[in-house]
Amino acid sequence: MLKVTARIRRTGPNTAYSRGVSPSGANAAAWDRHAAAYQQGAALPTDVAHYGPDIPTEADLRLLGDLHGKRVLELGCGGAQCSIAFAKQGAVAMGVDFSSEQLAFARRLCEREGVRVELHHSDLADLAFVRAESIDLVFSAYAFGYVEDLNRVFRQVHRVLKRGAPLVFSLPHPAYDMIDDDDPKSPLLVRRSYFDRTPIDYEWNGIGFTDYHHTISELYMGLTRAGYRIDVLLEPEPTPSGPRSIFWREAFRYVPRTLVVRARKEGI
Ligand SMILES: C[S@@+](CC[C@H](N)C(=O)[O-])C[C@H]1O[C@@H](n2cnc3c(N)ncnc32)[C@H](O)[C@@H]1O
Repeated sequence: MLKVTARIRRTGPNTAYSRGVSPSGANAAAWDRHAAAYQQGAALPTDVAHYGPDIPTEADLRLLGDLHGKRVLELGCGGAQCSIAFAKQGAVAMGVDFSSEQLAFARRLCEREGVRVELHHSDLADLAFVRAESIDLVFSAYAFGYVEDLNRVFRQVHRVLKRGAPLVFSLPHPAYDMIDDDDPKSPLLVRRSYFDRTPIDYEWNGIGFTDYHHTISELYMGLTRAGYRIDVLLEPEPTPSGPRSIFWREAFRYVPRTLVVRARKEGI
């Protein structure tokens, strides 16, 4: 019989599975508490944009094009490593995050790297500070999984993008929500229905977070209704070899961990 639980944890080093630990809306505080450990463990590059753990970077995926002179907005920028990479390529880079600790790390990193990134402390769904049709690329790596109402984000982003410009984002693949990759005995057992839309509460280093499950059809329909045309949808396989990140699990070889989407703004 299929064993199904209402909650499931996500990949994280030293996770401890427990139910209902993170009330919805507490993610900003959780990221404040977790920022230092995350940045130390993830050790992300600042010379190339990344899409997720143990998958090819922009150096291989090549979804963003030439960014020289472009205005780029990163949503859920965390330590701003991707924005720094964009700035190094000559972009005018802006980053938004709701965690002051992540932004404090980002500020220090920008200084150390000698690049300018305009950092904003805000919810990524609140883009009122950005002029309409002023942005050439909106980018987001692994932040949209924390957002319940992605359609609102798609509408906000649509307003600020120039016509034909792309929104490129990665998020946890919805198929990965079905398993518990920290179960030492049966990490590939289906524990949660693909069709279960309830929030996913989990602990990471003793800190509670909440993720939201977005199915591929919901993402497709949400983007299409908001006035985008999806031109790239990727389920990248893990890089075949090389040093693994702290997030690595053998389950990555069997179930796609990350979904990458590029959607272009169509006419208004
Ligand atoms: C997994 S981290 C990824 C950070 C960065 N993109 C990277 O690849 O390292 C998720 C980030 O999204 C931010 N975040 C999550 N939900 C957000 C929201 N609703 N508004 C703004 N930032 C958010 C968190 O504070 C955190 O910095």
